[in-house]
Amino acid sequence: MLVSFKEILKDAYEKGYGVGAFNCLSLENAIGAIQAAEELRSPIILQLAEVQFPYSPIELMAPIFLDLAKKATVPVCVHLDHGQSFETCAKAIKLGFNSVMIDSSSLPLEENIALTREVVHTAKSFGVDVEAELGMVGTIGVDADSTADVYTNVEESARFIEETGIDALAIAIGNMHGKYVATPRLNIDRLKEIKQRNQLPLVLHGGSGTSIEDFKSCIHNGICKINVATAIQLGVTEKVKAYVQEPSANYIDMKYRIVEASKEVVAWHMDLFESNGHA
Ligand code: 13P
Repeated sequence: MLVSFKEILKDAYEKGYGVGAFNCLSLENAIGAIQAAEELRSPIILQLAEVQFPYSPIELMAPIFLDLAKKATVPVCVHLDHGQSFETCAKAIKLGFNSVMIDSSSLPLEENIALTREVVHTAKSFGVDVEAELGMVGTIGVDADSTADVYTNVEESARFIEETGIDALAIAIGNMHGKYVATPRLNIDRLKEIKQRNQLPLVLHGGSGTSIEDFKSCIHNGICKINVATAIQLGVTEKVKAYVQEPSANYIDMKYRIVEASKEVVAWHMDLFESNGHA
């Protein structure tokens, strides 16, 4: 069933678990993710980021996500990840996404607040929820590896939440997108301070490659949504590479293998995030 972002995160916030938000770039990824959620009785967020539109067009992915969500026996939210402009968020809302992320975290604070407010104002008039980001979650190989000076500021987080009216805040605590060269050590103390100062579900981006210990500390200290993209791509690639070595390899079977690999990666994370059994 298609359930709002706010409702899914409220349960996670109250009960202290994390909901996995999985970037699905294909039909097979999305089918596998839903199969995992149904088998584990877990809520799930299906998402697509703006940078992924060139190879997974949002106009084509939206009906797939929405149909799977409506027919699923567990709560599913369909979310725009890292919308880079007001226009992209508006487009996702028009296509039926029930939550959007506006990521203006690279702008100065005042501008980040202003753009986020504008998106919240419009989204709310369509009953759509909003996530935004404060601090900078970079990308491995693109941004500098050191995140020491870009952690989310605690006082700014309180002001940002109050002035924008968002439903969830993505924070920077040493997490990065992509394939980590070495396992990161997240700043759990900063997470605790942000959690203590605010009463809002927090979001961890760059989930792939995080240590089990850090994942657990995150979900037990206020992180209610965890984004996972790279791990699915790595899991699928590994499975396909092995499969194509088989003499009987064929395209249809390969599609099933992709569904299976996606499902395995999603299920592994759901178990870790303790969302299983909450649907
Ligand atoms: P990873 O690719 O590191 O899992 O990050 C996913 C993400 O945060 C998408 O917004």
